[in-house]
Amino acid sequence: MTTTQKPRGGATGTQHKGGSRAGKTVRQPDPPAQGERRQTPREIEGPYFRLGAPKRSNLLEPNDKPELVLKGRVLNEHGKPIPGAVVNIWSSDAVGNYDMLGYKYHGYVVTDASGSYEFTTIIPGCYQPRDAKHIHVKVQGISSPITTQLYIEGEPGNEDDDFYSPDLLVHCTTDKKGTKHGTYDFVIKQVTERENVTPESLAARV
Ligand SMILES: [Fe+2]
Repeated sequence: MTTTQKPRGGATGTQHKGGSRAGKTVRQPDPPAQGERRQTPREIEGPYFRLGAPKRSNLLEPNDKPELVLKGRVLNEHGKPIPGAVVNIWSSDAVGNYDMLGYKYHGYVVTDASGSYEFTTIIPGCYQPRDAKHIHVKVQGISSPITTQLYIEGEPGNEDDDFYSPDLLVHCTTDKKGTKHGTYDFVIKQVTERENVTPESLAARV
């Protein structure tokens, strides 16, 4: 079963038109130091993330066609692949409803030794008040999870969406069967021992 409730402004309430609000509503990562890659921008979680989604790369439901194959890697800020990172995605169904009882179009995978992930899913519907079809994502390595959204190249409405960022656009090719194949590499910062173990944290240990 799916709900018919429509989101009203994601996690932050009301929205307005006029360009991405991502940087105004979600704390962004520090800019890259010299020689580092820019970390993936963060975006809102929205109201529909739920714990407990199954581990699976194929999110297709019966009778679905594979509309989008999304693949890429999880990298650190130096471009080094991160094996064992969790990539968790969720989206609406084809008409814009999120499954709040089960886990349709919601699942996670763990990156392989090359830091790679892959999903096969549908292209989600769009729903008020959003203008862009989007896929919600959480990515976690040895770090706090980061939350963001991906947008699909060639789909209508991207530029009109309040949260759209070209930095989060999945570049796609389309095969003979009409399936889009998109690639997106996430860049996250791992928490190193040097950063995690401070005199203050050691003093606070019990
Ligand atoms: Fe959403």
